[in-house]
Amino acid sequence: MPDLSVTFAGITFKNPVVPASGTWEPLDAPDTGLAMSELGAVVNKTIFKEPRAGNPPPRIWETASGMLNAIGIPSAGADDFIKKKLPKIRKHADKVIVSIAGYTADEFAWLAKKIEQTGMADMIELNLSCPNIESHTSWSTDPALLAQAIVAVKKAVKLPVIAKLSPNVTDIAEMCLVSESSGADALTLVNTFRGMAIDIKVKKPALGNIFGGLSGPAIKPLALYAVYTAYERVKIPIIGMGGIASWQDALEFILAGATLVGIGMYTFVNPLCMRHVISGLSNYCSEQNIEKLSDCIGKAHPAT
Ligand SMILES: Cc1cc2nc3c(=O)[nH]c(=O)nc-3n(C[C@H](O)[C@H](O)[C@H](O)COP(=O)(O)O)c2cc1C
Repeated sequence: MPDLSVTFAGITFKNPVVPASGTWEPLDAPDTGLAMSELGAVVNKTIFKEPRAGNPPPRIWETASGMLNAIGIPSAGADDFIKKKLPKIRKHADKVIVSIAGYTADEFAWLAKKIEQTGMADMIELNLSCPNIESHTSWSTDPALLAQAIVAVKKAVKLPVIAKLSPNVTDIAEMCLVSESSGADALTLVNTFRGMAIDIKVKKPALGNIFGGLSGPAIKPLALYAVYTAYERVKIPIIGMGGIASWQDALEFILAGATLVGIGMYTFVNPLCMRHVISGLSNYCSEQNIEKLSDCIGKAHPAT
């Protein structure tokens, strides 16, 4: 059997496949026939400190090869997650990455510490695509805000911290460098691309929030570009995601420089997609006589 394990920010994952935050509810896993334990890690939907209602409907809209969403991160809040969900995830998952967000840097740090104190998380992922309430700008579209959030969290916790960045910037590599120099242990690239649709039946924006984020196969070349360019500029490891629908797509991200790969929108099309990606990568390695999948990471770059 080929070795699919990868080491990411000092932690060994048995395979590189993880759910993209917000697209797979781990506690519903038994209904889909996919077990949490099959995955490299389980990632929860982003939580905030306090409960949040999310955006008005409609919250999702199908597009050519993709999906627009403006869910708005509804959340029952940190206490509910820690009491009702996290223990069940910890029990069944091999590794646990907890996705958090905050409206201020202090809130990010407070929540990261609270998660660390449970002893149930292996890593913390900062969803830096939500807005800072003081500036109304998303954290990862402003270098100063981005640094502020990461520095605050790094001061508060010892767990490895992943910065999940928005692609809605002129130069994603600059934001990766800011994340690295602020102490982030790893990156997740990318969150959704800003977009919208018009419902021609009613001649109005299709989403209740007017604007949303585009995900799915439509964004794969854009996300791959982000991972490839980041890999050339930073030393910290990357979770690559954006439009992965097959093992071939996942392999492209790995060859571009991703150590872990996330699958989001495509789980809506095929709830067993993550399992198929894992088995497809394993078969590929067997057929190509590749003993360790990790040898493929970054192999699309010119040899140095
Ligand atoms: C319905 C939906 C909900 C999402 N919720 C979150 C979330 O709570 N936190 C987060 O960091 N990203 C969230 N995302 C973004 C995904 O995690 C991922 O970064 C993005 O969709 C690109 O991957 P994909 O093309 O495979 O979906 C969401 C995406 C979708 C489609």
